[in-house]
Amino acid sequence: MGNYPAEPFKIKAVENIEMTTKEDRKEAIKEAGYNTFLLDSDDVYIDLLTDSGTSAMSDEQWASLMIGDEAYAGSNNWYKLEEAVKEVYGFDYVVPTHQGRGAENLLSQIMIEEGDYIPGNMYFTTTKAHQELNGGTFVDVIIDEGHQSVADHPFKGNVDLEKYKDLIDEVGADKIPYICVAVTVNMAGGQPVSMDNLRKVKEISERNSIKVMYDATRCVENAYFIKKNEEGYQDKSIAEILKEMMSYADGCTMSGKKDCLVNIGGFLAMDEEDLYQEATQLVVVYEGMPTYGGLAGRDMEAMATGIYESVNYEYIEHRVEQVQYLGNKLDEAGVPIIKPIGGHAVFIDAKEFLPHLSQDELPAQALAAAIYVDSGVRSMERGVVSAGRDEDGSHHYPKLETVRLTIPRRVYTYAHMDVVADSVINLYENRKNIKGLKFVYEPPVLRFFTSRFEPIE
Ligand code: F0G
Repeated sequence: MGNYPAEPFKIKAVENIEMTTKEDRKEAIKEAGYNTFLLDSDDVYIDLLTDSGTSAMSDEQWASLMIGDEAYAGSNNWYKLEEAVKEVYGFDYVVPTHQGRGAENLLSQIMIEEGDYIPGNMYFTTTKAHQELNGGTFVDVIIDEGHQSVADHPFKGNVDLEKYKDLIDEVGADKIPYICVAVTVNMAGGQPVSMDNLRKVKEISERNSIKVMYDATRCVENAYFIKKNEEGYQDKSIAEILKEMMSYADGCTMSGKKDCLVNIGGFLAMDEEDLYQEATQLVVVYEGMPTYGGLAGRDMEAMATGIYESVNYEYIEHRVEQVQYLGNKLDEAGVPIIKPIGGHAVFIDAKEFLPHLSQDELPAQALAAAIYVDSGVRSMERGVVSAGRDEDGSHHYPKLETVRLTIPRRVYTYAHMDVVADSVINLYENRKNIKGLKFVYEPPVLRFFTSRFEPIE
């Protein structure tokens, strides 16, 4: 074996990709308003827009699709999914949803009242939107290192316990229905939370009768980092670590499109029966019967299979180490990236990459467009455009202005990673030629999805 864990799978089916020229791509990005979300996927060579719903399923998962029981109620695939979540995550009650934000909607509606505060280890776009739609205010309680692009901390996603306690003192525990802990933290760079921190968050919360709800979207990646970097966990299995992590939560929302290795699906899980009853009343309004929650039977079966596969050590080691490989290559060439490298993506520090652009010139958006034109690699802006506007109408300027190169699970090879690295390194050497962008169309919410831009000449 070389200096990285090679693929612990072999390839049974391939999807051919149409190759494009630089001229084609210049035209395509212009038509897409310089927004990589608006590109047609046919125009993309290596698609690193997201790791969400883009995983390759295994042959067993494809076989699962063939045993879909498409009954409106009581599908046997649902019972398998419920069993998988109970067994692997350890919660007593499960409500299926069509994806993660479906679970966020239910949780926010049930638990948040007007004027409540919801602390969390950095915001995520849809999570925060649901909290606010229900009258809550999100309060960021991640450790300061989480906002620094480079910090020598193996668990940059940790909750700052002092910030959390200060919030409780300031607003009162009765105004905090729950703390939302993301494992890992997407917007910080895919950064994990340590077991020790999760344990302490639980202690503080229990003392104050505050519930702990995880955003479990990338919890298996988090478990891998704990095994690798936290003392005392080297000899524990991924499944054991995951179970222990979940034992410090009262429930979780899950986007199955990430760590459950499926193209669609999610769930809300919890230990408390009352909460479950409320969730089952709401799920019928928004998603469907509590035995399908917006999913086909076959999708639930594939997710159940994916949940068991996801805790396999060779799988998760390859998944995270492939991300590390790309990050290390960029880092060795001097490209400024978020460090340590996270679990699902390499985040380029666009402020450092393009120091000649101010944040108003949307450096991350401009860099994402430039990478696409250079090599057909599609990435995502995670900076001022994603952060939206403050109540007074001005841009919200996040400290981290990044371009996310998000690696789908089991889809690309190490050779693909080399193509990405070469392109980004080439652009870095010619970075002075990259111009800023300005808005020409901007929607009021979640603007990054559909905004259009133009180069600043
Ligand atoms: N929480 C986190 C941390 C996420 O990264 C996402 C989705 C969600 C919740 C919502 O889940 O998409 O299934 O409704 N993240 C995707 C991404 C979209 O590209 O980072 P969903």
